Amino acid sequence: MLEDQTSIPVSGEQFVAALAEENQISLERLGRLSSAGEAPRGVTIEQLLRIALKNELEASEIAAIWMTTTSELDVKLAFARQCGDEAKHFRLIAERLGALHVDPDRIDPREGGYSPLFEYLRQLQSTTARVAAGQFTREGIALVRNQCFIDFCEARGDRETAQLYRDQIQPDERHHHELGRRLLERYAVAENEQQVARQAARHTLELAEEIQEMARLKAGISRAPGC
Ligand SMILES: [Fe+2]
Ligand SMILES: [Fe+2]
Repeated sequence: MLEDQTSIPVSGEQFVAALAEENQISLERLGRLSSAGEAPRGVTIEQLLRIALKNELEASEIAAIWMTTTSELDVKLAFARQCGDEAKHFRLIAERLGALHVDPDRIDPREGGYSPLFEYLRQLQSTTARVAAGQFTREGIALVRNQCFIDFCEARGDRETAQLYRDQIQPDERHHHELGRRLLERYAVAENEQQVARQAARHTLELAEEIQEMARLKAGISRAPGC
């Protein structure tokens, strides 16, 4: 029988480097989609921050669910940290909305139900799939989308919201993404684990692209930030 390429053992580091390259192609496309065309005049920063609240809540809740059912101690603690960070982002964004004269207590980000991405992530059971999808990939997506949102805020002359994202939120998202990278290098060692991790990362990107496209078609809100 012919030797299959995939049967050659790949180290955790090699695997993550290849996955990062694969992700990069989709992330660049997502960045282009996010900033494509003119943002409709009617779209406001307040509207986009409301969407951001939902994304932060979902990111925090997913990390909380996973924390309780992950046995590897370092991954469990990484989810705990992320859960707290995303809840902090929620609070910061709510405060910013307050400063923009939108009463955050009148917003319930659970309205409309959970997103398809949340539903997909929630049912992931494998630790490597969770880290690949939820931290390494989703946080990579957040970095790209938040940057598009920062550019939008600056174009609209809202330097304070841009600064909040640049100085407080983005460094955390970068940290989550890097944490995901280190944990994947450690745990995505066996071939089957690498397969599961790659699949989860791909599906997360597909869902993000679908959501992006829907947002663009529906309401021109493709500049909404990530988590
Ligand atoms: Fe995040
Ligand atoms: Fe966040």
